Amino acid sequence: MAGKKTFTMIKPDAVAAGHTGAILAMINKAGFRIVAMKKTKLSKETAEAFYKVHKKRPFFGELVEFMSSGPIVAAILEKDNAIEDFRTLIGATNPKEAAKGTIRKKYAKSIGENAVHGADSDRNAKREGAFHFAETEMF
Ligand code: RTP
Ligand code: MG
Repeated sequence: MAGKKTFTMIKPDAVAAGHTGAILAMINKAGFRIVAMKKTKLSKETAEAFYKVHKKRPFFGELVEFMSSGPIVAAILEKDNAIEDFRTLIGATNPKEAAKGTIRKKYAKSIGENAVHGADSDRNAKREGAFHFAETEMF
């Protein structure tokens, strides 16, 4: 059965452009509860570790540079069917292909600088949440 939690980051492009509040409002309106949240900045090393599953992909270097280029907002979110529903809310990786009304359609600039991250499985949501938050920071 699909789990109740997912993990997200508002990426450096959207934070720098001042879209944090609007994106959080869309997340709340879609029925997600915030379990944990913080504004932080990834170092190059932390971004490499976070995205190690993408190490062999051609865009890995670009992704690490971008994700460590400025502050992000990381959060654990709760809702029934969280992974799938959140990926529907954010839309396709490439904003040109993202459906109307999705976060990426509204706020993403390009396939690389695409405003938000959403975990792709229960297993990865757990790993990514634990990467950023201690048990004592989850409520
Ligand atoms: P995310 O993990 O950030 O939620 O995005 P996703 O599942 O939709 O896409 P994924 O394949 O996991 O790729 C991770 C992130 O890498 C960047 N990317 N750049 N230049 C490119 O062709 C390219 N492809 C992917 C994006 O920032 C993407 O979100
Ligand atoms: Mg992904």
